[in-house]
Amino acid sequence: MARLIRVCLCVISFWLVHIVIDLVKPRNLCEKFIQYESLLDTCQLQYGYNGTIGRQFRPPFDFMTSLNLHRMKLANESYNAKDTDFTFVMAASRNHFEQSMDAVASIQENFPDNRIVYFDWNLSKLQREQMTKWCNVELRDFDMKLLPTYHEYAHKIPRYQSMKIQAVALVLVETPYVIWADASVRFLKSDLRPQIALAKQNGDLVFFTRTEIHSTFAVTDPNTYEFLPTDLSQQQRPIHVQSTSFMLINTPEVFHNVIWWWLICSLDKSCIAPNENTHCFPNTAINNMTEYLGCHRCDQSVVNVLVSNWFNFNQSRYFLSEVERPLIKIERFKSMKLAVKQCEDQEFASHPPDSYIGTR
Ligand SMILES: *[C@@H]1O[C@H](CO)[C@@H](O)[C@H](O)[C@H]1NC(C)=O
Ligand SMILES: *[C@@H]1O[C@H](CO)[C@@H](O)[C@H](O)[C@H]1NC(C)=O
Ligand SMILES: *[C@@H]1O[C@H](CO)[C@@H](O)[C@H](O)[C@H]1NC(C)=O
Ligand SMILES: *[C@@H]1O[C@H](CO)[C@@H](O)[C@H](O)[C@H]1NC(C)=O
Ligand SMILES: *[C@@H]1O[C@H](CO)[C@@H](O)[C@H](O)[C@H]1NC(C)=O
Repeated sequence: MARLIRVCLCVISFWLVHIVIDLVKPRNLCEKFIQYESLLDTCQLQYGYNGTIGRQFRPPFDFMTSLNLHRMKLANESYNAKDTDFTFVMAASRNHFEQSMDAVASIQENFPDNRIVYFDWNLSKLQREQMTKWCNVELRDFDMKLLPTYHEYAHKIPRYQSMKIQAVALVLVETPYVIWADASVRFLKSDLRPQIALAKQNGDLVFFTRTEIHSTFAVTDPNTYEFLPTDLSQQQRPIHVQSTSFMLINTPEVFHNVIWWWLICSLDKSCIAPNENTHCFPNTAINNMTEYLGCHRCDQSVVNVLVSNWFNFNQSRYFLSEVERPLIKIERFKSMKLAVKQCEDQEFASHPPDSYIGTR
């Protein structure tokens, strides 16, 4: 009898321990997000393309929660965006600071009523001080050391590239209308109506520039396709678009087809940067469309796969070529040709999200 009681107690305590473990361990990310009545009600962790299902993502729970995605502002299909609705989003490290000044000045010049959110990817104290007077610019902290993948990178460039979508996501909590600009981008005119029209007609995401002639296939490490399956022969057709600058209108459709996957991929190095060699050199010995160049363009590779899959490889649905009078040009050096406008009283107050990155 005593033996039987001992066995029973043992079974009961085993069972109790498991209940406690189940209560304590973080629930599956999607289950957790489903609690919020929001866009995340269809949260998925495996990307599918034409019947092929990718490897499962395991996004870091605490980090994802800190992004406050459930508070994201969404645009609905009947949105009616104006030029002034867009928030420009930028980020730079200290050795791209001077280059970024021309980007800021060109935005101030062409879009004097728009807000610029600028993330500090390790600026110096002096640089930060200088920025407090820049008109329309809100400086935000972004402590990259808190990124779960921070120590997995051997090189800075692929790490910065992976962080781009995280910076964008932090701003989507405040507004659905965003334009990303790298430090090298110079805006040349002040009319976004053609881009807005293309976004509205085709799918809420518009890229402004393409690379020299090569495909996404040529510059994408094959490991990325394990997470994000695609059609590899189709992938050899369109020219690779650049993530240097793009317009994003965050409708549920663009979020579920592109932004969500881009974001969770960015938190898994084997998806966004399985290969840290970002130097892609097309050359005469290689067919730049059908051969792999052995390099990887990180966020740019990932977003090209996602948008081309979504739009069935029809690039005119997400890329606007304005050959005569382009919206932007790219200058990859410290030019400091333009003067950043200074304001004593900043019109734009900061409303930082309460997360451990992205605060002022
Ligand atoms: C989907 O896959 C099937 C079978 O592999 C193929 O025949 C079809 O062309 C594919 N469709 C698209 C849109 O890629
Ligand atoms: C779409 O959004 C606009 C502006 O936020 C709002 O006025 C409108 O009622 C919304 N339409 C629908 C169908 O939800
Ligand atoms: C920031 O820059 C300083 C100076 O170059 C460097 O010592 C430090 O490691 C950098 N921090 C990060 C997080 O990269
Ligand atoms: C690949 O691109 C480079 C640079 O644009 C060009 O010089 C080369 O001729 C291209 N290769 C082929 C086979 O077309
Ligand atoms: C590609 O998209 C454009 C713009 O929507 C459309 O006019 C064109 O017919 C499409 N091309 C194909 C081959 O579907």
